[in-house]
Amino acid sequence: MVSSIDGAAQGPDGRSGTLSNPADQRLLGVLRALADVVLVGAGTARAEHYGPVEPHPILTDMRARYGQPPAAPMAVVSRRLELHPSSPLFTHACQMTGAEQRTMVFTVDASPVERRSALAEVADVIIAGDADIDVKAVREHLATRGLRRVLCEGGPQLLAHVVRAGHLDELCFTMTPALTGGYATHILDGEPIIGSDWQLAHIIEDASTLFTRWLARA
Ligand SMILES: NC(=O)c1ccc[n+]([C@@H]2O[C@H](COP(=O)([O-])OP(=O)(O)OC[C@H]3O[C@@H](n4cnc5c(N)ncnc54)[C@H](OP(=O)(O)O)[C@@H]3O)[C@@H](O)[C@H]2O)c1
Repeated sequence: MVSSIDGAAQGPDGRSGTLSNPADQRLLGVLRALADVVLVGAGTARAEHYGPVEPHPILTDMRARYGQPPAAPMAVVSRRLELHPSSPLFTHACQMTGAEQRTMVFTVDASPVERRSALAEVADVIIAGDADIDVKAVREHLATRGLRRVLCEGGPQLLAHVVRAGHLDELCFTMTPALTGGYATHILDGEPIIGSDWQLAHIIEDASTLFTRWLARA
């Protein structure tokens, strides 16, 4: 996750991409290469025009040694399923993972049935929850596929839900040298979270950008 100095999770154009910089993008590429699966909320997938993860230029050999496909598959979380089946997120997925691994869509029982069937043509649609996604059920499903190291790329709604459910054990957080002002979303959205306790694991500076890694104490 990334924010401006004053805590905005979105740049002035309403996207997080504009807060990022080349070093942050390199870091994101490494985190993706270390992950078994990338989990993202549909809001972020839509705003940032998500496609499948691309293989890392250097780390694909390391993945192969651990029996992983060249790139981690993508898993999108959505209630409304307003995701276009012709999006590269679905149509280019197998090419990128180098395996018969389609993009997964985790949705809820209350999602529109016709959109579910349309997406099922191009993705693995999994129901995991009634009105809200059940994070434990999502992780259990991913584990049955051998996908245990889950990189959640947000956005703020999904990440807040993951934290509230007690499933975030590590946070990689970048602070970029920008002030954005206004009433911006933070990296976590929604109701306040009480009793969350984190320990700084490392902090690295590059061109006035701070790259931090935090570990949950409990
Ligand atoms: N600063 C950062 O590091 C960072 C990272 C990622 C994204 N962003 C920014 O955040 C903005 C998007 O924010 P957002 O909060 O809308 O993103 P989000 O969490 O990615 O997406 C929200 C959507 O995800 C689905 N969703 C989330 N939680 C769910 C749950 N518990 N159960 C079922 N579905 C759930 C719903 O999809 P449906 O609407 O399809 O039902 C919901 O509307 C974009 O501007 C993006 O650029 C910032």
